[in-house]
Amino acid sequence: MKRYKRILVTSALPYANGPIHLGHLAGAYLPADVYVRYQRMQKRDVIYICGSDEHGVPITIAAEKQGVSPQNIVDEYHQRNLDAFDRFGMSFDYYGRTSSLVHHKTSQDFFKQLDQKGIFNKKTEKQLYDKTIKMFLPDRYVKGTCPVCSYTEAYGDQCEKCGSSLSVADLKNPKSVLTGQEPELKETEHWFLPLGELQHKIENWLKDKKNWKPNVIGQVRSWLDAGLSDRAVTRDLNWGVPVPHPDAKGKVLYVWFDAPIGYISATKEWAAEKGKPELWKTYWQDEETQLVHFIGKDNIVFHCIMFPAMLMTYGKFILPDNVPANEFLNLEGDKLSTSRNYAVWLEDYLEKFDPDLLRYYLTINAPETKDSDFTWKEFQQRNNGELADILGNFINRTLTFARKRFDNKVPAKGELNQTDQAMIDELRKAPTLLGTSIEHFELRKAASALMNVARMANKYFNDKEPWKTVKEDPEQCATTLHICLQAVQSLAILMEPILPFSAQNVWQMLGHKDDIHDHAWEEASELALPVGQTFGEIDILFRKIEDEKIEPEILRLQKSKPMSTEEEKPETERVTIEDLAKIQLKVATVLQAEKIEKADKLLKLQIQIGDETRQLVAGIAKHYVPQELVGKKIIVVANLQPAKIRGIESNGMLLAAEDEQGAFSLLTVDRDVDTHASIR
Ligand code: MF3
Ligand code: ZN
Repeated sequence: MKRYKRILVTSALPYANGPIHLGHLAGAYLPADVYVRYQRMQKRDVIYICGSDEHGVPITIAAEKQGVSPQNIVDEYHQRNLDAFDRFGMSFDYYGRTSSLVHHKTSQDFFKQLDQKGIFNKKTEKQLYDKTIKMFLPDRYVKGTCPVCSYTEAYGDQCEKCGSSLSVADLKNPKSVLTGQEPELKETEHWFLPLGELQHKIENWLKDKKNWKPNVIGQVRSWLDAGLSDRAVTRDLNWGVPVPHPDAKGKVLYVWFDAPIGYISATKEWAAEKGKPELWKTYWQDEETQLVHFIGKDNIVFHCIMFPAMLMTYGKFILPDNVPANEFLNLEGDKLSTSRNYAVWLEDYLEKFDPDLLRYYLTINAPETKDSDFTWKEFQQRNNGELADILGNFINRTLTFARKRFDNKVPAKGELNQTDQAMIDELRKAPTLLGTSIEHFELRKAASALMNVARMANKYFNDKEPWKTVKEDPEQCATTLHICLQAVQSLAILMEPILPFSAQNVWQMLGHKDDIHDHAWEEASELALPVGQTFGEIDILFRKIEDEKIEPEILRLQKSKPMSTEEEKPETERVTIEDLAKIQLKVATVLQAEKIEKADKLLKLQIQIGDETRQLVAGIAKHYVPQELVGKKIIVVANLQPAKIRGIESNGMLLAAEDEQGAFSLLTVDRDVDTHASIR
């Protein structure tokens, strides 16, 4: 592998139209942060750039839906996402935004340069137009039937069902998203990047990217094999960077033209803040820089074909050395869906759990070469069985033993036996082992290797039985603890990229007064924790997560699940009357309702259906107080399989409605009917 002089790392600029969820983190952010933190500890010259993508149809549609201006939307989410990222430990050197003046200028300069070089093709085309609101309908402003899989809700730029990338003209039965009207065709002029003509150049550049991830190469290959076609880089919209051309009234740059240039603009702003305004050029224009884009798989074509084509034709710029795109993260076995709130939002997560637990689980279970699945159960198991029982346990038992038996200080080692030497050898190898995995973007492997070091260290502790030798052979006991403490120090360093908050905690427990970042990766193999150093305050590193803590999370997701599969079903998969007859809906009277201890979302209800009394558990405590439920007639699914929720039997499920704003209502009957009334 070529070793560059400096490294420029980017993560895809998230659209500032909504909060960050775990899918984002696992795809484009966390892996980049781990990579960068590692490179920093290697003392390499690295900067990490990201920011908000504030243009494009996703933003304007979000604004229209909420009835506010696009500026409102991006101001809100830029700040919220920046805060959430920060609390999650994302260590950007700069987090810009594409609404900045520098960005407008930089992307307009890009357009002008390509225009002056005669790169673009200007074409007049017929495009979809909504005549009721006098507006062209680019990208997501149109929905229709996917030509590939016949999904009826495909967007103008992409089918979310089969993942095909589309253009507006491909859709069958197109409908305006804004008015529901069938659009008409109207002529308009646009600037096109002639990817077809550039294909040869692009292929030539990609030829030697043999070390790229197979999922990335595969996707790029299939684009190239299909033959590249020209891409319009302008749009008829009023939100975005105005096209700097006298003939381009009412047009803005296509968001996928301006957004990647955002990486460059953000680097310029970073350099200016450092008081070295020219410094950005070293990172973007010097061949000795390694440019690495971390993205999710839906961004591959833009980072491996379109943006490189723009950089090439502009001239002077370096091209990406690697684009380690990740596949998707699923959630409890189903595809994540933000529109249906089938997602785990980072802000919500951080209210309940520590960032490092998620950083660990999302790294060891990263969707590196294929989609992976996030489940709360596995999250709990990884935390309890690995972070707490192995890594945390080793560190805590070592420190507490040494505090008790060696006066809170690092003891000197005596003569080494084979077991001691073997442990030392493992520690000396560990930083290279982990580091190599990280440099190859194999972060799952790195996380496993980290846990393995802790596993070996635990075993070493057990094998050496210091609780026995402390009386029988104090020198041997001191040696054991000395080596264990060296292992704790090595682990702290090795933890830093994946578990930065815990790493710093361990560092302080060891009695260091400085910041772990001032230390180097190689120190993990030096075993140079000074004899006699006094420890700091010792505290439990990772606590176990109880079932009660994750059950509400599972329940919430389960609730949004059935709806989502229903909505995703194409028309041919509608249910029959027989399917419906399988579900027994009944009217029921609430006899009793009470809170459940330590479950602030759940209520336990006794209900009556005919002359039968039943118990059910419902996640409605945030919306109803127990007293107001008693006597209400509600609708329940009577033949649902019984389940235990928090160990409490639940026999049936009540129906309720909840909208996107969170307004919540139980379903009830609006005239008086008996409880055994069936529902047809
Ligand atoms: N906003 C895009 C998305 O969320 C990513 C933009 S990446 C950039 O899919 F390179 F264009 F910045
Ligand atoms: Zn499709």
